[in-house]
Amino acid sequence: MAHDELLTLARHYDTLAQHYDRMLDRFERRLLGDWRARAAHQAYGWTLEIAIGTGRTIPLYAERATVIGLELSSGMLAHAKRRLATARVPVFLIRGDAQRLPIRNDSIDVVISILSLCTIPDDRRALAEAYRVLRPGGKLLLVEHVRSPNGLVRAVQHLLDPLSVRFAHDHLLRDPLDHLQEIGFRVLDVERRALGIVERVLAEKPAT
Ligand SMILES: C[S@@+](CC[C@H](N)C(=O)[O-])C[C@H]1O[C@@H](n2cnc3c(N)ncnc32)[C@H](O)[C@@H]1O
Repeated sequence: MAHDELLTLARHYDTLAQHYDRMLDRFERRLLGDWRARAAHQAYGWTLEIAIGTGRTIPLYAERATVIGLELSSGMLAHAKRRLATARVPVFLIRGDAQRLPIRNDSIDVVISILSLCTIPDDRRALAEAYRVLRPGGKLLLVEHVRSPNGLVRAVQHLLDPLSVRFAHDHLLRDPLDHLQEIGFRVLDVERRALGIVERVLAEKPAT
């Protein structure tokens, strides 16, 4: 992807960073329920959270995980750094691009992504990178807003998508299930909520 496009995206989130938590506090519970906490509790070993944002998951990680949080926007990352004091596990924050992970093959036990694949410019590439860095048998945990299976809701999403992409860098019509099997993941569990626009996926990089 073009360097300029990534820079524009990073700047967008740098600007949004100071309002982000207040904005999400308002609707996260209704949209995600307890799925962020569930994902955090399922983490173990070397855990990579891509596009960690302001680090809302940091206080939720349980003791068996050591977390690497990767984020593009330095503004978002500054807020995540402040959350480190609330962590119960070791957390290392790095600035980077989820489409080009600075992490070696087969080295991570769990990759987590929460509300991120809607924004990362090439979501398929980010998932392929997650696959590359996961150990065989490693787990992928996704909590994402996606294209609804409900025709009426999807029609509204189609209508809003061009504006959402243009002004918020937020894609409404994506679904990681479009890519996971083709990349090589085995999908183990899928759940939906909030009119089908929020999806929780547990997938695994097969052991052989
Ligand atoms: C909607 S926010 C979600 C933040 C966080 N995951 C959460 O649960 O609150 C999307 C995040 O993706 C980050 N992002 C977008 N493209 C990225 C990329 N290519 N690499 C890393 N982070 C990226 C943005 O900077 C932003 O922090």
